[in-house]
Amino acid sequence: MSTRSRKILVTSALPYANGPIHLGHLLEYIQTDIWVAFQKLRNVDCLYVCADDAHGTAIMLKAQENGITPEEQIANVKAEHERDFAEFSVRFDHYYSTHSPENRDLSSLIFERNKAAGYIIEKEITQLYDPDKGMFLADRFVRGTCPKCKSEDQYGDNCEVCGATYSPADLIKPYSALSGATPVEKQVTQLFFDLPRFENMLRSWTRSGALQTEVANKLAEWLDGGLQPWDISREAPYFGFEIPGYPGKYFYVWLDAPIGYMASFQKLCEQNNLNFDDYWGRDSEAELYHFIGKDIINFHGLFWPAMLDGAGFRKPTAIYSHGFVTVNGAKMSKSRGTFIKARTYLDHLDAEYLRYYFAAKLTSRVDDFDLNLDDFVQRVNSDLVGKVVQIASRTANFVNKFGGRLSDDVDNSLLIVELQNAASGIAEMYEGREFGRAMREIMSLADHVNQYVQERAPWTLSKKEDSEQEVLEVCTTALNAFRLLVLYLKPVLPKFAAKAEAFLNIEPLVWADAQSILLNHSINKFEPLMQRIESDQVAGLLDASKDTHQANEPVTEKSKEKSAAKPEADDTITIDDFLKVKLRVARVAKASHVEGADKLLQLTLDVGNGETRNVFAGIKSKYAPEDIEGKLVVLVANLAPRKMKFGLSEGMVLAAGPGGEDIFLLSPDSGAEPGMEVR
Ligand code: MSP
Ligand code: ZN
Repeated sequence: MSTRSRKILVTSALPYANGPIHLGHLLEYIQTDIWVAFQKLRNVDCLYVCADDAHGTAIMLKAQENGITPEEQIANVKAEHERDFAEFSVRFDHYYSTHSPENRDLSSLIFERNKAAGYIIEKEITQLYDPDKGMFLADRFVRGTCPKCKSEDQYGDNCEVCGATYSPADLIKPYSALSGATPVEKQVTQLFFDLPRFENMLRSWTRSGALQTEVANKLAEWLDGGLQPWDISREAPYFGFEIPGYPGKYFYVWLDAPIGYMASFQKLCEQNNLNFDDYWGRDSEAELYHFIGKDIINFHGLFWPAMLDGAGFRKPTAIYSHGFVTVNGAKMSKSRGTFIKARTYLDHLDAEYLRYYFAAKLTSRVDDFDLNLDDFVQRVNSDLVGKVVQIASRTANFVNKFGGRLSDDVDNSLLIVELQNAASGIAEMYEGREFGRAMREIMSLADHVNQYVQERAPWTLSKKEDSEQEVLEVCTTALNAFRLLVLYLKPVLPKFAAKAEAFLNIEPLVWADAQSILLNHSINKFEPLMQRIESDQVAGLLDASKDTHQANEPVTEKSKEKSAAKPEADDTITIDDFLKVKLRVARVAKASHVEGADKLLQLTLDVGNGETRNVFAGIKSKYAPEDIEGKLVVLVANLAPRKMKFGLSEGMVLAAGPGGEDIFLLSPDSGAEPGMEVR
């Protein structure tokens, strides 16, 4: 593929203007930024636009809650979002707001064109109205008793207890979540986008090739299930754009949100003298990619291409969807301190650690993504500090000492050629969004370089007489290898790369530099390029993220059309949930080290009645086997057995304390006996 002639426009989903950026969002913006940065390093003409999603009931209500106008609300949040993105090096070519004149004009245009083509229909529907608030209620804002299982306090469109879906009118004892009033039914005429007429177009577009299999399958499922006209209007009061020709009616936020991609780009065109139609015209040859989360595939894979098509614009080349971020294996949660805002993270840790960890675990698929904080610390420290930075830190000082100039030959040109030859494979991985594979490849190259440095041991070599030239050539080899690794990591770690470039005293690296080599060149004094993460930084982050005042996630307007999305449930459990946990006294019959595990001890537990259990416990840093043999502990006895790398673990020994590693030891004279129930 000739890279010169490609013209690419990339977007990330537009974050809502009613809440802060959190680590879940960041997965998407970092993934997109890495891809775009890679293209730019290769000198591909690639532009990245985004905006705040500023419209809708949720934002209007948020502004009311904050006692400000919606305009003030969205201006404040936009400033915060932009600051957060900048500090995570998410480098948009343009960041805008959907509440813009360009978006108003484009939304009207797309509506009018679809209307002229007969794709807008009117239908009378029954909607619930809050007589106290004086407004129609989105399903999301109606609550009541589930008509099926009779659970109280369920959402207007689905029951979190039995999973039933229904219409708000079916709820028993419905009430408004905004005022508590009993809603009344009202007949209203709404505007619908006639989606079923696009079925054939969508069937062929979804098979056009570039969609991920999971996404194509999901879309096929919806297409097979039958498309429905889509309600695109909302009644005043609503914060959004009034629909031309329909006073008092507003575009539903999800109509003008994706048009916000175009509007942001249009503004960029004005600023940079670009031609809008080259990118969006029906015959455009530019590539258009939307990076999104799996919760909004229907909007991007059905409504959006249909609206574009109906209005005579081109359709996306592909939609790249990612899964949802969990932290330590569970949904992000305020009470566990794992609902981590971008800002809180930045208060404790360097953004590039997170960029690296995300990259190291990202694939091109839609799988969910776990941010395991122990793994995060270990990964960053061992890969970036322990492998990459180490190459420079072990060799730079010799060069600095012997005049600060690289030699005019390398000691091991095969090693350099090996690294140079890796460039095209790594490029393919970046291009295909297989960032995890790219990071593994880069780290395996770093391993080779470290082996080489270890073998040639400049620290020993330099003690030999007349070894200066040889030491310089060894270090020149290592630093050239380092330079190539920095280049390969540059899409992920732009700030680290900038520091390394300053140290190497070179111009900003571009992809083509992989084929050159740095000889007879003076470098600067070596300064530490990256710090290790200390575990108390992570502890501090979790602590600062514990906040019980706010709801777990901002209310959004997705719930109605969203496929699987459920609002995040509160973390409280009932006493019945708690009683399900069976706690038993157990005696540690035997404790032993586990080969190859830094943190684990293998415990054989006597749980009474002659029964024993095998448990792996992460307590090695705290206890030697002989410390706990014979001791009484508390065991979660009905935990499903878990297959670990080292064998089957049949339960969990309760641990607490700030490090999570102090196990509960029962006093030998407490009268506790193996098998006894604990409450
Ligand atoms: N405003 C809409 C998008 C409109 S696009 C025309 C929206 N906003 S959002 O703020 O809720 O989400 C923005 C993006 O972040 C979405 O792609 C969403 O999937 C993603 N994520 C939000 N929480 C996430 C996780 N916990 N994990 C991964 N991605 C997450 O949707
Ligand atoms: Zn129910």
